[in-house]
Amino acid sequence: MILSLCYYGNPVLRKQASPVKEVTPEIQKFISDMIETMDDHNGIGLAATQVGVLLRIFVIRKEFIGDNGEFLKGVSQVFINPEVSEPSDDMEIMNEGCLSLPKIFVDVPRPQSIKIKALDIDGKPFEDTITGFTARQIMHENDHLNGKLIIDRCPPEQKKEVQHLLTQLKKNHKNRSKTRT
Ligand code: NI
Repeated sequence: MILSLCYYGNPVLRKQASPVKEVTPEIQKFISDMIETMDDHNGIGLAATQVGVLLRIFVIRKEFIGDNGEFLKGVSQVFINPEVSEPSDDMEIMNEGCLSLPKIFVDVPRPQSIKIKALDIDGKPFEDTITGFTARQIMHENDHLNGKLIIDRCPPEQKKEVQHLLTQLKKNHKNRSKTRT
């Protein structure tokens, strides 16, 4: 089932998500809906917050580079109750977008590598050291669970440049809320 996305202006995106107490079949069904929703929007990551559910869950879809240098979609990965630690001192800046901020792309500095601890879809704990683009995806989605967005991490002058788009998204949200029955 494709879930409806929350866009900038929706206060849920600024809230702190709560830990999952138990990985039940309902939670697993919700996660498979999240993956379906991410793929339907051609995204490479989605946090539960973005579909209005304040639980500490996110999914990513890994990407790899094909023979002709093109980006190809790989497997999806589920993170429940993730804990990010040991960020490297080496930072990297990359242009990022977000399904909750359509048409907005800003430069976000992030550590090159991190350690991640989480539960998988079966509720089994795992941990890993991740570097490069996957680490960035994880940090982006983990930010959502703490109410943080890419526009909080980009240079202030870039935020100014996209301010008109943010204002528009906020207005759209207000209109949508009014017409909702
Ligand atoms: Ni996002």
